[in-house]
Amino acid sequence: MRKFRQKYYDWFSHVYDQFIKMHSSNQQGTLKTHLAQKTEVEKGGKILDICTGTGGLLTYLDKQLKDDSLAVGVDFSSGMLSVAKEKIRNSKRLFLVQADVSKLPFKDQAFDTVTCAHAFYELKGKDQENCLREIIRTLKPGKPFLMMEHDIPEKPLIRLLFYIRMMSMGARKALEILINEKEMLSNYFKSVEKINTAGAKSKILICRP
Ligand SMILES: C[S@@+](CC[C@H](N)C(=O)[O-])C[C@H]1O[C@@H](n2cnc3c(N)ncnc32)[C@H](O)[C@@H]1O
Repeated sequence: MRKFRQKYYDWFSHVYDQFIKMHSSNQQGTLKTHLAQKTEVEKGGKILDICTGTGGLLTYLDKQLKDDSLAVGVDFSSGMLSVAKEKIRNSKRLFLVQADVSKLPFKDQAFDTVTCAHAFYELKGKDQENCLREIIRTLKPGKPFLMMEHDIPEKPLIRLLFYIRMMSMGARKALEILINEKEMLSNYFKSVEKINTAGAKSKILICRP
């Protein structure tokens, strides 16, 4: 099943950036800038971006990095990572690692911030739970996990289409993360703050262990 999902994302990587452009015009830039500005990275510190995909967020994280700090993008799809590799080739502070986010190949307390943009609801079965445990394990004490997710559309027709799309992904768990995310995340983190991005139809959850 995992191999099948990896293959699906490998295929998707060929059209992913065009798909996102069509889906959200230039909103993605505003959203990702917003998320990147919420990171907390010290001199020499590290940011981890899970389910980094084609590295769309990494280039925005790069702007927040100072001195010898760095950011690592993790994804299990080699297709997605090869598109990301091209995008980050001019940066000395961005790195990519191919791994499953439910078993991260990093030491305990290695990161100052962990980010995840528009991807967490796509994790299947026990992967969400395992991934949250891995995020907590790899974060430095008190440092944030920043999760950006789609907000439920307000207009009835768009909301209906949104629900249909979610259900078509076989996604009762996906809906749970998109609707009751604060309650779900509170089972893992001591504090969970929700911020709605102005007019941008996404929300950011700031979670601290
Ligand atoms: C919606 S896409 C990428 C979103 C990306 N963060 C962005 O901002 O454009 C979701 C990504 O999650 C990755 N993914 C899904 N399950 C994964 C897992 N168990 N381990 C690692 N990556 C996974 C997929 O390969 C895909 O690249």
